[in-house]
Amino acid sequence: MGFLDDVQGTLDRGMNAARGAVSTVAGEQLGFVRGFCRMCQDGWELGYHERNGGNASYRLTPADLNSARSFFYDAPSSWVAMGVTVPEMAGEHLLVTGSGKFLRNVKDDPVANSGIVEISPSGDAWRIVWGLKDGARPTSEIGAHVATHGVRKQATDGAARVLYHAHPNALIALTALLPADARTLTRLLWSCVTESVIAFPGGVGMLPWKVPGSADLANATAEVMREFDACVWQLHGVFASGSDFDEAFGLVNAIDKAADVYLRARAAQGGNANLPFAISDGDLRATASAYDLPLNETFLS
Ligand code: 13P
Ligand code: ZN
Repeated sequence: MGFLDDVQGTLDRGMNAARGAVSTVAGEQLGFVRGFCRMCQDGWELGYHERNGGNASYRLTPADLNSARSFFYDAPSSWVAMGVTVPEMAGEHLLVTGSGKFLRNVKDDPVANSGIVEISPSGDAWRIVWGLKDGARPTSEIGAHVATHGVRKQATDGAARVLYHAHPNALIALTALLPADARTLTRLLWSCVTESVIAFPGGVGMLPWKVPGSADLANATAEVMREFDACVWQLHGVFASGSDFDEAFGLVNAIDKAADVYLRARAAQGGNANLPFAISDGDLRATASAYDLPLNETFLS
């Protein structure tokens, strides 16, 4: 997994890029690639992705894999260790954004800004089978994506397929005012927007500040997401899971909107943290009962 492997990988991809030039264009038309592009574009338009901020991944279904395989490079890149070992992800294929790539560019050029990686039989390395051309690599958060896919796959009986990491303004600002505590954060978000509890009845997990792209952040996120389908990273952003692009994107959108409403209400009364009117625990229970929601009772009083 050293320098020579990297060189070999670049050569592999260079040779195959030429052969695959025609087929990759068709690869961009695959339904799941288009859905992925749309999510990146939607996030860009909402201001979630300054520069290369944020990243995303999608775990292919067997049917996706069948339809995509004919577009794969003749020879994949060499294996690259990812710093985490996730046996549940052995042999899985992920469509991922590239490290340092701007999400605003994914839609116009998916093959340059994203690609499909295969996870090794022991779940500790990736190799590129499509896209990520010209020496691009998967997101620096690949460890968090693979480790969390492993956890969410188990937690949802295989239904969870999308992980989306965004840098939404209001949510990041809110984390500068709070301790890194899931209950405190969730209660604020539930208390100021009526449909928050419908969007995330289980609540939202939260981690204190950690180095981006680190194995520590990857492992801690996966641990939090055993319980939650979203984890807020203090002063950084949010990592959210869903069964499809709408679910993962909608969850981030709902969390950030509630943070925005809370901050506006707080600012409108001179920064006072105690809002005069807020949704009570009784109101939350009534909503959960009306909509048959799996409410996280441990977050209520
Ligand atoms: P990448 O460009 O490597 O995906 O990094 C962006 C980011 O948001 C890291 O947390
Ligand atoms: Zn980030």
